[in-house]
Amino acid sequence: MLNGEHGAGVAKALKLLVSLGDVFNAEKLVPVVSAHISGVSYKNLGDAGVEWLEDLVNLDAKVKIRSTLNPAGMDLKKWRNMGVPKNFADGQLRVIKAFESLGIETTCTCTPYLIGHIPKLGSQIAWAESSAVCYSNSVLGARTNRESGPTSIASAITGLTPYYEYRITENRVPQVIVDIKSKLVNRLDYSALGYTTGKKLGIKVPYFKGLGKPDLESLKTLGAACATSGGIALWHGEGVTPESEKMKANIKNLEKITIEDEDINDAKEKMSGNVSDPIICLGCPHCSLKELKETAKLVKNEKLGSRLWAFTSQGVYNEAKRVGYVKNIEDAGGKVYVDTCMVVAPLHEMGWKEVSTNSFKAAQYCTNMGIKTKMGTARELILEALK
Ligand code: F3S
Repeated sequence: MLNGEHGAGVAKALKLLVSLGDVFNAEKLVPVVSAHISGVSYKNLGDAGVEWLEDLVNLDAKVKIRSTLNPAGMDLKKWRNMGVPKNFADGQLRVIKAFESLGIETTCTCTPYLIGHIPKLGSQIAWAESSAVCYSNSVLGARTNRESGPTSIASAITGLTPYYEYRITENRVPQVIVDIKSKLVNRLDYSALGYTTGKKLGIKVPYFKGLGKPDLESLKTLGAACATSGGIALWHGEGVTPESEKMKANIKNLEKITIEDEDINDAKEKMSGNVSDPIICLGCPHCSLKELKETAKLVKNEKLGSRLWAFTSQGVYNEAKRVGYVKNIEDAGGKVYVDTCMVVAPLHEMGWKEVSTNSFKAAQYCTNMGIKTKMGTARELILEALK
């Protein structure tokens, strides 16, 4: 493959993976069965990134395995309604065209596992997007490192990845016990727990005790936050995640930290600022059908006094539209957008100054972009906004 016998595109992709393997002293390459690619927004890629992708297309590269895309910088159809400038949209559509030519599914979401892209326990995959990495490693028990956009594309094209870090059983053992003394009552609490844990542990693998009975939505926001404040790619939850039982033998004599109410409340207070007219942003990671259902129920036959934008995948949107949730939200004055999110859209060009959100990941990134941010549960934010 390196010699170009499978085409110049494959050779270019494999060269990148071999270099990556050399950096991490990987002993071999192993096959991967699925890829999820980040770095899709034109905001992050710019023209240099688009040219890199188009170069691969010109070299006749094609993906070998199921490959999905992370959110783009706009709803691919309703970008005008979002207020996305035309020059940005032109660049973004060029990006999507290049991905399409490579054979990648061009539905753009950070929750591919909610639209049927669900790798099996123990399978080797190449996923980028830190929240999806955390979900696939921890909740699904698949095996991936925190891939970048280019390395996930290279794996999609070659069907290979270097064998190191979280791909190896011994590297998946917990490193710190996180004993949760705080009662986690809503998803914002799980998001705060993830954020606090990431801050305390950096990239170490936590073993959570006392997670309660989180729903899927709590698990996705927990992982997203863990990966934002630290670099956590894998966590185990006693009685919750598929590898946790096996890992019990490895947790004796481990360092232990406790998370108290004070830690959770402190994280919320620090992340939440003063705002006067925020846009309520839901869907970081992208909303599930259940989250859209809950939103629809709260706003049904009501009128919102603030703007509310919910972000989701095309697949979840289609179902939400079919059962009437999208109509309920839109009738109340809210919007539901697909293929994008509040972090990868060009918010400044769209004139955004303030957001309120139920996600620590969104709050952290928006704050980093100079957007004033307030936090609350989805329910709190919506009820506050009803006229
Ligand atoms: Fe997804 Fe965007 Fe949040 S990619 S995890 S909604 S920052």
